[in-house]
Amino acid sequence: MREFNLPGQLVVSLLVTLAMTIGCVESSKPLSDAELKNQQLSGIDRGRYVLEIMGCNDCHTPDYMTSKIDIPEADWLTGGSLGFRGSYGTVYPSNLRLLFNNMSEDNWLVLARQMRKDSPMAWVMLPKTSEQDLRAIYQFVKYLGPKGTSAPESLPPGVTPQGSYVDYPDPH
Ligand code: HEC
Repeated sequence: MREFNLPGQLVVSLLVTLAMTIGCVESSKPLSDAELKNQQLSGIDRGRYVLEIMGCNDCHTPDYMTSKIDIPEADWLTGGSLGFRGSYGTVYPSNLRLLFNNMSEDNWLVLARQMRKDSPMAWVMLPKTSEQDLRAIYQFVKYLGPKGTSAPESLPPGVTPQGSYVDYPDPH
């Protein structure tokens, strides 16, 4: 086998050229949407994005699912009056604007990681959500600030709600 004996300076300049070439290849590769979001969104902006794609507004923002126009962000997450009825009774989506206003970020992490089976809530998804995303959700809701009134009290099983409600399958 032949041995190459390159002068040190040449080796260094070859390595630099190689590094630059790799750099070029890397930077010309288009980023996926997920990578872009990861890079660009942090804190409040990330929280807004995560909340939207996780569908929290569907239940926690009045008229979000039925309205023909987009509900302004200022009115998001003020709680719902549509009851969800199951074997656990009837529960109403909490006003997260008031709840988060009275809860620390760390307590939110503890709550979000509890797996519960007594409501239609996103309790399956939240424990799997990353700490970064959970914190971002909290920061966004805090940024929106307190608004609205508390959701109706939950009703025990067997009591028929006075207002609108849906029969909701129990989580499994
Ligand atoms: C299918 C409707 C639905 C969706 C979607 C939903 N929730 Fe809820 N949520 C509820 C209902 C109903 C309650 C009240 C019953 C309960 O506490 O589990 C509730 C309660 C909560 C509570 C209060 C829990 C407590 O112990 O006081 C938090 C916090 C919450 N939701 C956050 C979220 C977040 C964040 C999302 C999005 C990831 C979300 N919810 C998506 C229906 C929903």
